Amino acid sequence: MTKLCVNIDHIATVRQARRTIEPCPVEGALAAIAGGADGITLHLREDRRHIQDHDVYAIKKAINVPLNFEMAATPEMITFATQVSPAMAMIVPEGRHEITTEGGLDVIGKEEHLTQAVQEIADSGVPVSAFVDAERDQIKAAKACGFTVCEIHTGPFAEAVIEHGFDLQHPEVVTERNRIEDAVAFVREIGLQCNAGHGLTHHNVRLIASIEGISELHIGHSIVSHAVMVGMQASVQEMKAQIEDAQHV
Ligand code: PXP
Repeated sequence: MTKLCVNIDHIATVRQARRTIEPCPVEGALAAIAGGADGITLHLREDRRHIQDHDVYAIKKAINVPLNFEMAATPEMITFATQVSPAMAMIVPEGRHEITTEGGLDVIGKEEHLTQAVQEIADSGVPVSAFVDAERDQIKAAKACGFTVCEIHTGPFAEAVIEHGFDLQHPEVVTERNRIEDAVAFVREIGLQCNAGHGLTHHNVRLIASIEGISELHIGHSIVSHAVMVGMQASVQEMKAQIEDAQHV
């Protein structure tokens, strides 16, 4: 069965909005595991906008499922990955002004740099994944660089779902889904592990989860968003109970 790796970055986003101690990403990771997460994924961005260095160490120590470390291929992050020794390093493109990862790696344009980065991380015993668009040329180039895993970018599919009024049968949604299916088959054909993620939600995930050959889905924003909503009522009830108790109502 396809595994679910839960990305907990946005638990840290809420904490960093106040630079305080809650919500705690370690507790979030443990709750995700209690809910069935097969792995925990986090992205230590160069600007440290959500996950902080100490979170990575604390989560690695606290969890009993694989930790996936999403990172840019910079010297600082390569050193960090070799020190932390996660279950998998996931190389993504990173722009300082982007709100989230905007597209797959341009592997073709950066073959020399990526080959060196992959080798350095792989030499420390950590498998390395390339986050790529659903394009055969990029996938082929990723294999040539030494990546042993490709994560197919599902963002364009997710955007098509929103653009077309959440209609999962809209022809453009189906086209984007089929592009992913073709890319997954190609990744498997050339002997790499295939993962997928970005923009997946409780509404759209079934169309991607039904594709054969995907080892792991990496999902974050929608899970954290939904958790806020399903937990809001209980959170308010607990606060109200405290106020009432203090006033002996
Ligand atoms: N995979 C990669 C490579 C990502 O960069 C992200 C976002 O951090 C995800 C998966 C998860 O995307 P989302 O938060 O939209 O579920």
